[in-house]
Amino acid sequence: MDTNIYIKDVTFIITETEEESVERELKASFSQNILAGLMASPKKLQSKYFYDAAGDRLFQDIMQAPEYYLTNCEMEIFSEQTKEIVKTLTACFNSFDLIELGAGDATKSVFLLKELLAQKVDFTYLPIDISTNVIEQLLYKLPKQLPGLQMHGLNGDYFDMLKEASRLSGRPKVVLFMGSNIGNMPVKEAFVFCVELRKALSPGDLAIIGFDLKKNPKTILAAYNDAAGITKNFNLNLLKRINRELDADFNLDQFDHYPLYDPQTGACKSFLVSLVQQEIRIGSTKIMFEENEWIDMEVSQKYNLEEIDQMAFSGGFEPVRHFFDAKKWFVDAVWKCV
Ligand code: TRP
Repeated sequence: MDTNIYIKDVTFIITETEEESVERELKASFSQNILAGLMASPKKLQSKYFYDAAGDRLFQDIMQAPEYYLTNCEMEIFSEQTKEIVKTLTACFNSFDLIELGAGDATKSVFLLKELLAQKVDFTYLPIDISTNVIEQLLYKLPKQLPGLQMHGLNGDYFDMLKEASRLSGRPKVVLFMGSNIGNMPVKEAFVFCVELRKALSPGDLAIIGFDLKKNPKTILAAYNDAAGITKNFNLNLLKRINRELDADFNLDQFDHYPLYDPQTGACKSFLVSLVQQEIRIGSTKIMFEENEWIDMEVSQKYNLEEIDQMAFSGGFEPVRHFFDAKKWFVDAVWKCV
């Protein structure tokens, strides 16, 4: 029997799937933003690009580092004051949508979800994340872990997905934005973010926002300068990613991590410093570094309570409650839309 199959004159028509076109666009904007940032003066890279697969793992490790107090503080608030948080929500609404911006693995919010379910509160959990992977994991994991949970995952940009959430239901909204993620915006941007958030909500809706508080400068600096060097590797990993994805030739040994906390402004900043004068190639583009020239990598802004309340008022919210950890190092502020 002849088992050979002869194919003659076959034309392959390759059409791009929607997923492929999204990926292509993401890659194009990654390339554009990285190049524009490195050609600017001073040089700057956007920290949203830290999170490739290796970056995600390093970030998990940072949160486990002994010096990194933020996660433990907020975990303490969400595990020990859950009943009070639920009371604050149920005092306002009989039923609502609980929307989490940048849900990640939802470790902290699970405490709140559990208590809401135990008290038979009528709510739907809507995690929003830019990572498809994160949303898929949550949709797989949470219904098993929390039987009876009503959930709808939203994959995309925060404000696009907030619009989508309003389209899906007319119920009051409670927005969670935890982990001092608001701190990764420069102060002015954070103010604008609050105004945008308010625009996406309705009077009476609530927001619970996690802020890292100003405290002993050494405690803050240590959290972003861990002895094991995880934060350093987390920053350097972006150069590695650029090497891999944009065909570049950064030598990681020629850059050092310089973290800095300024108690006056409350800005904790991360820089990568070029240890020598060098020329880097990214694809066919050449980028010059002077010796000691730095790249601005990220800010983690710290606030005091007055500044936080001020941000609420100027965004069109009114402060309702402050939930602190025992050391008063971190606060989850509850704001109501006016
Ligand atoms: N938002 C958190 C913070 O500012 C987590 C975080 C973002 C972070 N980027 C980081 C922590 C870089 C350490 C280093 O702390």
